[in-house]
Amino acid sequence: MDSSAIEIKNLNVGYNTETDFSLIIKNFNLSIKKGEIFGIAGESGSGKSTLAQAIYRSVKYPGEIESGEVIFKDKDIMKMEANDLRKIRATLFSFIPQAAMNALNPVRKIRYQFYDLLIAHGILPEKNNDKISAVLKMVRLNESVLDNYPHELSGGMRQRTVIAMSILLNPEVVILDEPTTGLDVLVEHEILKDLKNIQRKYGITMIFITHDLAILYEISDRIAMIYAGEIVEFGARDDMLENSTHPYNFLLLKNIPRIGVKMDNIIKLKGNPSNFKENFPGCQFYERCPFSKGECSEKHPDLREYSNEHYYRCIRFPEWKQNV
Ligand SMILES: Nc1ncnc2c1ncn2[C@@H]1O[C@H](COP(=O)(O)OP(=O)(O)OP(=O)(O)O)[C@@H](O)[C@H]1O
Ligand code: SF4
Ligand SMILES: [Mg+2]
Repeated sequence: MDSSAIEIKNLNVGYNTETDFSLIIKNFNLSIKKGEIFGIAGESGSGKSTLAQAIYRSVKYPGEIESGEVIFKDKDIMKMEANDLRKIRATLFSFIPQAAMNALNPVRKIRYQFYDLLIAHGILPEKNNDKISAVLKMVRLNESVLDNYPHELSGGMRQRTVIAMSILLNPEVVILDEPTTGLDVLVEHEILKDLKNIQRKYGITMIFITHDLAILYEISDRIAMIYAGEIVEFGARDDMLENSTHPYNFLLLKNIPRIGVKMDNIIKLKGNPSNFKENFPGCQFYERCPFSKGECSEKHPDLREYSNEHYYRCIRFPEWKQNV
């Protein structure tokens, strides 16, 4: 039996500029297993949202998916007819985009926003009030929110509402792009706990995107660190934590202070986050890496396997690690 929920193959995604096309996600390959929480992290601008939108095929102009495949249930999402794509969205595969809680319709009560979602999938809304109550309960919201407008709810309640909507139609896979960013730390942690409970209870596959390392390592079964649109290390959570193979992950972990402090604030690396250096032949992390040597500026590292399903993109591993 195929154990992968989503297979991403040779995905290339970028943005059109007035004169050019700038590639952000480069030759991206990844297999997400059924029933896992797969965490994806990287600094601001590293390409997390671009990747998430591409997996869901919802990249909008000036963004463009240049090439690649995203296999879900033996079909390539990139080649699906619009009708088939609409059918699987929210029912089998749903997506909570970054800042989704701010995208709730401000002039429509929450009840009708749930109904809109059902109608969009050809489902009679009134017959599904029990289902709506059930998902609200899963995210620990009182049914009274149905009679509220979004602005009458707190940020945490709005985010819980969005999560409830995303699981309303029993999806097998959910992508969550920074689902707790901007929330109070305690609320954030309650929501994460609920998400994990829902995921474990219903076996949903979750792709969880964050730039908060503490949260990443708390919630994920497996993790990919991305830098300048490429995976630089990925593997099981404990392997990534105990045996980091890429300097980026290693340095970030060294700096991890406490829950809720964002990695952009703690990183002690020189240079700007995730600068994309087009036409640079070497390692994208070269200018910021304290372990770089001449060869690193000349050769782009491939992704190599360190141990069972633990991969890294560094020419100088394990050498650099012997000196720390
Ligand atoms: N609308 C756009 N037009 C042109 N370039 C864009 C656009 N949106 C994103 N980019 C480019 O793509 C890169 C990746 O952006 P993306 O939003 O995917 O990053 P991110 O990792 O999700 O960041 P954040 O943590 O801030 O959400 C950016 O650095 C930027 O160069
Ligand atoms: S290849 Fe070189 S520059 Fe890149 S991460 Fe490894 S040591 Fe650092
Ligand atoms: Mg983003």
